[in-house]
Amino acid sequence: MEISKIVRESCRSFEPYVAGRPIETIKRELGLKKIVKLASNENPVGPSKLAVAALKKKAKDAFFYPDSNSFELKKALSEKYKLPPQNLFTAAGGDEIIEIIAKVFFSPEDEIVISKHAFVRYAMAVQLMGSHAVVVPMQDGLVHDLDAMLKVCTRNTKAVFITNPNNPTGTYNTGAQLAQFLQNLPPNTYGMKPLVILDEAYFEYGSILKDYPDGLTFLQDNPNLIVFRTFSKAYALAGLRVGYGFAHQSIVDFIERVRPPFNVNAFAQAAAIASLKDKNQVKKAQSLVKKEKEYLYKEFKKLSIEYIESAANFILINSSPLTGKDLFSKLLKEGVIIREMSEYELPSWARVTIGLRSQNEFFISKLKKVLGK
Ligand SMILES: Cc1ncc(COP(=O)(O)O)c(C=O)c1O
Repeated sequence: MEISKIVRESCRSFEPYVAGRPIETIKRELGLKKIVKLASNENPVGPSKLAVAALKKKAKDAFFYPDSNSFELKKALSEKYKLPPQNLFTAAGGDEIIEIIAKVFFSPEDEIVISKHAFVRYAMAVQLMGSHAVVVPMQDGLVHDLDAMLKVCTRNTKAVFITNPNNPTGTYNTGAQLAQFLQNLPPNTYGMKPLVILDEAYFEYGSILKDYPDGLTFLQDNPNLIVFRTFSKAYALAGLRVGYGFAHQSIVDFIERVRPPFNVNAFAQAAAIASLKDKNQVKKAQSLVKKEKEYLYKEFKKLSIEYIESAANFILINSSPLTGKDLFSKLLKEGVIIREMSEYELPSWARVTIGLRSQNEFFISKLKKVLGK
C-alpha cells in the first residue's frame, strides 16, 4: 500500500516542524542531571500566580466543554486594547492562527510574500494550502526588507507575512517603515491591497523600545491588516496554547467560521484572563530580559562572538568556526539546549533564549568550554 499516493500533493514533501528538545527527553537520552533549556523562547519567570490559581480553580470543571467563543477572554482583551470584541479572535496559539488564516484565504494560485529567515511556520502554512511562497532576502543586519517585499508584490499577491520583532533574528521594523509599507502596497487582482499578517508574538518585549510600533495603531486605516499576539511568550503560558488576533470585522467573521469550535481550551482561557489582571507579569518579563540581554551581550563581546541585537527574548549568535548544528550538539552534551538555525537557512548561527541569570551563567560557562575559550 503506497499511502503517499492518496496524500494531498501539497503535503507529500512536508517536513515536520523541529521543536525545541524537551528537558526530560534530553535527560533520558544523555543521562544528564542538570539541563538548561534555552531553545523555545519561553519565559523562565513562569506564569502569573493569578493564572496558576485560576487553573487550580478550573480543574474540577474539566468535564465541561470550554466556552467556544472565549467570551470572557475576548472581553478582557477588548478592554485592555480598547478595540471592540467584533475585531478580535482567539486560537490555540499563534501557530493555529497562522494555519487558520491560511485555510481561510490561501488558494493554489495565490502568491504569499515572506521574508527569508522569518518564522518557519508561514512557509509551512503556504505549502499546506498549495500556494506559492515568494521569499524575499533580508536587508543587512537580518532585518525584514520591506521595500524589497513591496517590489515583489504582483496582481497575484494574496498576503504578506511580517514578523515584528522577527524570530529568529530578533530584529524589528520601525513604525515609519511599517506605515510606508502599508501605504504603498499595490492592489491585487481582487482590487484590494494584499492581506498583511503582522505577527507580534514578541510584542511585549519589543514594546519597551522607542521606535517599535504597536501594530494595532494601523488597524483603523488598513482593513487588510491582521495583527496577532500570544500568551506563550511574556505571559509564560506556552504549555496552554492560547493566542489572539485583531482584524477588520469581515476578516474575523471568516476566521470564526473556519476555526475548530473549541480551539481554546477552558484552562487556557481561564489562565489568560487571570494573567491580564496581573499588572506585574509583563513588567517582570521585560525587566529580566532587558537586564539579562546586557549580561549576555557583554559576555559575547568578551568571547568575540558576533550577535544580532535583539528586540525579543532571544539572541541570534554566530557559531563560527563551528556550524550551528555542531555548537548545538556540543552544548547539548553539556546540558544546555539551544536551537541551531539550518531550518532558517542560517547554518552558522544559533539562537539562544534569554534565561534567568543562573541559567545564562551556566550557558556561558559551557559555551566557553565547547569553544575552548
Ligand atoms: C514569531 C512567532 N510567531 C508565532 C509563534 C507561535 O507561538 P504560539 O503558537 O506559542 O503562540 C512563535 C513561537 O515561537 C513565534 O516565534
